[in-house]
Amino acid sequence: MKKIAICSAKGGVGKTTITILLARLLQENNYKVGILDADIYGPNILQITDFNKRNTRIKKNDTQLAPFNFNGLKISSIELLTNSKYPRIWRGPLLARSVKYLMNNTDWGRLDYLLIDMPPGTGDAYLTIFKDTDVDNALVVTKADIFSIQDTKKTLELLKELKIQILGIAENMSESFALGQPGVPSKEIKNIFSEHKICFSLPNLGQKQIFKSFEASTEVYNYINLDQFI
Ligand SMILES: Nc1ncnc2c1ncn2[C@@H]1O[C@H](COP(=O)(O)OP(=O)(O)OP(=O)(O)O)[C@@H](O)[C@H]1O
Ligand SMILES: [Mg+2]
Repeated sequence: MKKIAICSAKGGVGKTTITILLARLLQENNYKVGILDADIYGPNILQITDFNKRNTRIKKNDTQLAPFNFNGLKISSIELLTNSKYPRIWRGPLLARSVKYLMNNTDWGRLDYLLIDMPPGTGDAYLTIFKDTDVDNALVVTKADIFSIQDTKKTLELLKELKIQILGIAENMSESFALGQPGVPSKEIKNIFSEHKICFSLPNLGQKQIFKSFEASTEVYNYINLDQFI
C-alpha cells in the first residue's frame, strides 16, 4: 500500500478537497483507496462526504475501528469516535495518540493507496505522521498568493528535514485559467518552486462544482494526471 500525505502549512488551500478528488480519481482507475483524516482539531472530510446525513452505524470493538464507507472509499476520522459539535481542546500527546490510533486500528482491509488529509501547520501532526508512522510520500498543495507561497516554502523545508519524498506540488484555486481551459501553473509557482515538479493545477471553482465532483467524475478530473505522482 502506498501512503501519500496531502500537506500544506497554510490553512484553507484545498488539502481536504484535493484529497477527496484524488481518492475518487484513483477509485475510477480501479484502485482501492482509503483516507485518513489527520486533522484532529478541524476534521472536515466527513462533513464534505455528507456523513451526518447518512444512516450509518459505526461498529467499534476493542481493536478495530470500522471506517466510514463513502461510495467504496474508506474514511477514518476522529469524528467517528467523538462528538463533532464540540471543539477538541487537546494537548499534543493526545493528538499524536489519536492519529496513530486511527492509522493503526482502522480496519482498512486491502488498500492500494492510503491518502492522509493533513491539517495546516508544521507541528505535532506532521511529526507524528512522518516520524511515528511509515508514511514517506507527500504531495504539497498551495495557492499562488504570497502568503500561501511563504507557508509552502516552510512545508517543503519541513519535509526535506524529515527526509520525506516530495512527489510534487499541486496548485489549487488558480486564477490563471478557468474550468474548461487548458491548465497552466501560475508563473510565481513555476518560478519559485522550479526545483519541484508541479503535478497539476486546478482552477478556481464554484462550490456546486466542487461538491458535484465528489459525487461523480466531472471536468475537474481532466486537470489531474495521476501518472505524475502515483
Ligand atoms: N479549486 C477550488 N476552487 C474554489 N474553491 C475551492 C477549491 N478547492 C477548495 N476550495 C474551497 O476552499 C475552501 C478550503 O478548502 P479545503 O477545506 O479543502 O482546504 P484545506 O487546506 O483542507 O483547509 P484546512 O487547512 O482548514 O484543513 C473550501 O470551502 C473549499 O470548498
Ligand atoms: Mg482540511
